[in-house]
Amino acid sequence: MIIAVDGPAASGKGTIARALAGHYGLPHLDTGLLYRAVAFTVRRLELDPTREADAVAACDFDDLTLADPALRDDDVGQLASIVSAHPLVRASLLQRQRRFANQQGGAVLDGRDIGTVIAPDADAKLFVKATPQIRARRRHTELQSRGDTTSFDRVLADIRVRDARDSGRDAAPLIMASDAALLDTTFLSIEESIRRATVLVDAALAAK
Ligand code: DC
Repeated sequence: MIIAVDGPAASGKGTIARALAGHYGLPHLDTGLLYRAVAFTVRRLELDPTREADAVAACDFDDLTLADPALRDDDVGQLASIVSAHPLVRASLLQRQRRFANQQGGAVLDGRDIGTVIAPDADAKLFVKATPQIRARRRHTELQSRGDTTSFDRVLADIRVRDARDSGRDAAPLIMASDAALLDTTFLSIEESIRRATVLVDAALAAK
């Protein structure tokens, strides 16, 4: 059983995917972390994120990098959005994600192109969205709790830039799969978002 969860930055897709994994007893892969690891490695090696060859060289990161808490920083997210637009970077990370998706027993993956490219035959697909303002507010609150003093306006502007880049790129842009269920979390609490996500996944599984 494969569950695909896609959506823009700070939509709640990661929290929802983790909860679904717990609910259905499946392993979970946050695919954004792979692109963040590439971005982090580009920065560490002082490579140029806009050059495809540089970004591809950084795809050879070691697994320990994935556990670095700095991957969650907003500037790494922006850099991840830049490196992820290179087709060869996406190609380089594709098999790893497919292997995870197709492991025995199934998996939950969240990202931007899980339902469209990585696992087009997923048993259940969710597309999680929320307004940029509400996503910025959530991200701002999270950053504050980590002692980060970035202003709300800055967080909102960054989210808009990332949305435009992730949706506007040619290689596997962020779009809702035609057979995905839409979950708008703008006016929902985390608990209610998770409850509705579970109802939508159960419905998709029952319809199979
Ligand atoms: O989900 P996130 O914020 O951790 O993702 C960071 C960036 O990585 C995002 O802006 C675009 C890219 N990404 C992608 O292109 N495809 C994915 N499946 C996941 C993330």
